Amino acid sequence: MLQARNVSFDWSSLPLHYVDDDPLATHLVNVMHLLLPEGEEWFVRTFKEALPLIHDDRLRDDVIGFIGQEAMHATAHTQVLDSLTAHGIDVKPYVEQMQFLFGRALGNRPGHGRNSLVERVALIAAVEHLTAFLGDWVLNARALDTVEVDPTMLDLLRWHGAEEVEHRAVAFEVMRYFDVRPARRIRTYIAIAPTLVWFWARGVRFLMSQDPTLQGLPEKSRGPSFKDYRKVASRGLFPGPMMIWKASLRYFKSGYHPAQEGSTEQAVQYLAFSPAARAAER
Ligand SMILES: [Fe+2]
Ligand SMILES: [Fe+2]
Repeated sequence: MLQARNVSFDWSSLPLHYVDDDPLATHLVNVMHLLLPEGEEWFVRTFKEALPLIHDDRLRDDVIGFIGQEAMHATAHTQVLDSLTAHGIDVKPYVEQMQFLFGRALGNRPGHGRNSLVERVALIAAVEHLTAFLGDWVLNARALDTVEVDPTMLDLLRWHGAEEVEHRAVAFEVMRYFDVRPARRIRTYIAIAPTLVWFWARGVRFLMSQDPTLQGLPEKSRGPSFKDYRKVASRGLFPGPMMIWKASLRYFKSGYHPAQEGSTEQAVQYLAFSPAARAAER
């Protein structure tokens, strides 16, 4: 059964550029701490709304486990923000945009009824395809073990990634419980995936422009290009564009099921090893 692990992390000595002392590689990851908590709290609100409409006991249990895990993820990522602030990065303007996106634009509007709920569930299933892909990636990204990465941050990323792999089928199953038609699955993915990529790119540009160590550089070299991102990806420190594109195409295949992405066994294995998850168990 899915369960939330009550983890905690100490960020008091987190360096500013915690991935290989590389600003871009670090800020590509930092976007997660700014973007995910708002998204995950939106998941939690939406699934709490869906829960009374689910009359399948096993699926209900999975949804309750999913809600617990996503709420914990949101808390854990939010706690990193204090460290960014202490390093002189004002995260507020970007976080406020995310609050608007997930709170208002994608929130529940009174009077929109069941179809709006099912649409939001399908959007979340689409995002969960991407988070499962990212989770599987981070568990297998051997480059992160060979360069200098803050070990506590690497544990946060892999603990989160492992739980994403562990619960990767839940949102999909809830969507199918309400609507089995592939049209909604495909339409919602096309709506949300490019939006997320766009917000990710904006987030990286925002963080680079805020980074106090880059203030002396000309504006142009602070705004990372697609080429700069590809360089980081080619070093194995972030998923590359082709990888993301191919993962997206898999979501469109007929007969797609999240079980085909990543390995539960590997996820559970990591969770048994993760310092934060083990401390939570004690
Ligand atoms: Fe999550
Ligand atoms: Fe998730």
